[in-house]
Amino acid sequence: MELLPLWLCLGFHFLTAEWRSRSGIAIAASQRGCKLVDGVADCRGQNLASVPSHLSPRLRTLILDANPLKTLWNHSLQLYPLLESLSLHSCQLERIGRDAFLEQAGLRRLALPDNSLSESYKETAAALPRLQALQRLDLSGNSLTEDMAALMLQNLSSLESVSLARNTIMRLDDSVFEGLGHLKELDLQRNYIFEIEGGAFEGLTELRHLNLAYNNLPCIVDFSLTQLRSLNVSYNALEWFLASGEEATFELEMLDLSHNQLLFFPLLPQSSKLHTLLLRDNNMGFYRDLYNTSSPQEMVAQFLLVDGNMTNITTVNLWEEFSSSDLADLRFLDMSQNQFQYLPDGFLRKMYSLSHLNLNQNCLMTLHIREHEPPGALVELDLSQNLLSELHLAPGLPGCLRSLRSFNLSSNQLSGVPTGLFTDARNITTVDMSHNQISLCPQPAGLDGVGPPSCVDFRNVASLRSLSLEGCGLGALQDCSFQGTALTHLDLSGNWGVLNGSTVPLQNIAPTLQVLSLKNVGLSTSFAELDFSEFRNLRDLDLSGNSLTTFPRFRGSLALQTLDLRRNSLTALPQRAVSVQLMTSLRTIYLSQNPYDCCRVEGWGALQRLHTISDLAMITCNLSSKVIRLIDLPRSMPQDCKWENVDMGLLYLVLILPSCLTLLVACTVIFLTFKKPLLQVIKSRCHWSSIY
Ligand SMILES: *[C@@H]1O[C@H](CO)[C@@H](O)[C@H](O)[C@H]1NC(C)=O
Ligand SMILES: *[C@@H]1O[C@H](CO)[C@@H](O)[C@H](O)[C@H]1NC(C)=O
Ligand SMILES: *[C@@H]1O[C@H](CO)[C@@H](O)[C@H](O)[C@H]1NC(C)=O
Ligand SMILES: *[C@@H]1O[C@H](CO)[C@@H](O)[C@H](O)[C@H]1NC(C)=O
Ligand SMILES: *[C@@H]1O[C@H](CO)[C@@H](O)[C@H](O)[C@H]1NC(C)=O
Ligand SMILES: *[C@@H]1O[C@H](CO)[C@@H](O)[C@H](O)[C@H]1NC(C)=O
Ligand SMILES: *[C@@H]1O[C@H](CO)[C@@H](O)[C@H](O)[C@H]1NC(C)=O
Ligand SMILES: *[C@@H]1O[C@H](CO)[C@@H](O)[C@H](O)[C@H]1NC(C)=O
Ligand SMILES: *[C@@H]1O[C@H](CO)[C@@H](O)[C@H](O)[C@H]1NC(C)=O
Ligand SMILES: *[C@@H]1O[C@H](CO)[C@@H](O)[C@H](O)[C@H]1NC(C)=O
Repeated sequence: MELLPLWLCLGFHFLTAEWRSRSGIAIAASQRGCKLVDGVADCRGQNLASVPSHLSPRLRTLILDANPLKTLWNHSLQLYPLLESLSLHSCQLERIGRDAFLEQAGLRRLALPDNSLSESYKETAAALPRLQALQRLDLSGNSLTEDMAALMLQNLSSLESVSLARNTIMRLDDSVFEGLGHLKELDLQRNYIFEIEGGAFEGLTELRHLNLAYNNLPCIVDFSLTQLRSLNVSYNALEWFLASGEEATFELEMLDLSHNQLLFFPLLPQSSKLHTLLLRDNNMGFYRDLYNTSSPQEMVAQFLLVDGNMTNITTVNLWEEFSSSDLADLRFLDMSQNQFQYLPDGFLRKMYSLSHLNLNQNCLMTLHIREHEPPGALVELDLSQNLLSELHLAPGLPGCLRSLRSFNLSSNQLSGVPTGLFTDARNITTVDMSHNQISLCPQPAGLDGVGPPSCVDFRNVASLRSLSLEGCGLGALQDCSFQGTALTHLDLSGNWGVLNGSTVPLQNIAPTLQVLSLKNVGLSTSFAELDFSEFRNLRDLDLSGNSLTTFPRFRGSLALQTLDLRRNSLTALPQRAVSVQLMTSLRTIYLSQNPYDCCRVEGWGALQRLHTISDLAMITCNLSSKVIRLIDLPRSMPQDCKWENVDMGLLYLVLILPSCLTLLVACTVIFLTFKKPLLQVIKSRCHWSSIY
């Protein structure tokens, strides 16, 4: 019975869909055109099969990206003799006519990425030398081999920047970049280069930036590109980096060797201007134990260099090579994710300018802080995720770490830090000591004076602003642990019982705190209401994972923007007064995973209207033994919550009834509309059968 209208509907729908898509094509065709602004024609994605001919002859920039050109025909650009920049990104180009650029003597930038120029590379290679003024050429993503690349770059002596990224180049010899005397920038990333012959970059006297990232280079020995400013060899398979022993001055400023398999600290040029050295994710270490020598001076490595049928053995004294390299300008040193168990004495001392040192994820067990080591310029020190159980501070060293601003000691095995470490660091603003088992000074009376002071003292560290003590196994805080600081960010989460049910231990910093995390600290409101009224500047408060049964008090704290109350024991929503007052500033509130009583959710409507609840759909309430989502509750709540005793089946029936009724009415209407034809069908059938 209902089938017929359904079919009709579907038929109509298909008809309209078809009509729409046809008209869509019509519109695209009529709009086939380019945006022209200030000598720039943007014809991106216009489904063009050839270069448009209706554009201004004074065009300087033409963008034809994402058009299925396939071939750039001879003379197809002759209408635009003033063209300086041409972009043909993703144009399915296989062929560029020998004479395609005959009239383009002024073209300076040509971008041909993501095409198929390997298909007829010889003709393309013959076309390119017409571009006498070409400075930038992008050939990335064209499946070019080294021979094709060499041919294409032949005679393009004006080039300053070339990208051959994402091709299939495997080795480089001295023929590939021959004659590119003006080249400054060369991008070879994401190829399969496993070998670079000596002399491959020889003629490139102007080369400044070389990117070899994402290749298969096993080592770099005898590195002698003195003119280079930045070298990126990240994501290769390097086991060695060995600069040539020459005394020449290297211009190198940035060296990225991250994500390789280096075993030793790279042996850098003796004289360079290096300011950034990135060594993340290698296998480096210092091998005092392996060599079984008392001093690093005796560590020697022998390199076997095989070049054709020639074999050379080079012996390198690792420590002397290291100490002869010039690191006076080094500012950023990233040694994270390596195997360092220790840093040799004097290792950091010669890096006078070092401002950022990252030693995250190594195996350091102790660290000695001495005069000039780490250097006084250090601003950021990351020692997180090591095995540090001890920090040593040389005695009588006032003001070491005086520039330090951020000190990350997260996830180590520290039980304390040397006395005065943080107070001496006059500029320190951020300390992360999370996931170390420590206790804070002052310790509760009774524990004082037992053995050496093993507590960590943050009192009177006046510059400190941000402190993370997450998961430190802290006992109940004493009242003045943060006295004399002006903390704005404090993370105490995961320290069970740290506040012992009241905010009093934080009263010293209550006026300054902006972000406070008290996640999983065992707060309960069985004794008294938690009171955050003193926290006038608090913006962000995390109270999730506690056992709060009542809403905390925020009488004066009108700055609060984010409040997290998930996973508590709240049974009622905040009182109307509380919520109205809070909502003036609050932007985000999380309320889910609490056992609200469905009969005590009066403020719900008001809360919902304020659009601040981020986990709206996940808030549930308990009704006898059932759990119901709050958004599924009927809007108007009976005052005395009578339906509490009503059987749930009945409740669902009440919820479903309106929908059922609507359906029923719809069915009736349909039935009545098609009743007549249907009856006729039945009649005719009957009639037919009666003949039979
Ligand atoms: C361009 O012209 C040359 C002759 O000058 C011809 O050999 C070549 O096939 C032409 N290329 C295209 C793509 O038409
Ligand atoms: C480069 O120039 C030389 C000599 O002028 C010529 O023999 C060679 O064919 C040219 N190569 C290309 C690809 O045009
Ligand atoms: C080195 O190249 C890789 C890949 O392009 C890039 O992710 C990385 O940021 C580069 N390194 C530097 C220091 O620019
Ligand atoms: C290291 O050398 C000392 C003597 O210098 C020796 O007693 C010790 O066994 C050696 N250790 C290893 C691992 O070779
Ligand atoms: C081997 O060493 C000799 C002398 O030190 C040097 O002339 C030669 O270039 C080296 N060969 C290789 C392949 O490094
Ligand atoms: C290396 O091989 C070449 C030819 O393959 C030969 O001329 C040369 O003398 C050889 N050199 C050595 C040191 O064996
Ligand atoms: C602390 O930092 C300020 C600027 O951030 C700087 O001027 C001052 O020299 C630093 N103090 C020390 C002791 O380095
Ligand atoms: C400290 O290091 C840990 C782990 O590397 C990181 O998660 C945390 O964000 C860092 N802390 C700071 C303040 O940067
Ligand atoms: C926690 O507070 C209660 C009373 O408020 C007090 O009796 C108890 O000693 C406190 N515990 C600690 C460890 O301070
Ligand atoms: C609410 O329901 C949950 C899940 O059934 C249950 O674990 C919790 O004890 C109930 N809470 C109350 C207060 O009834």
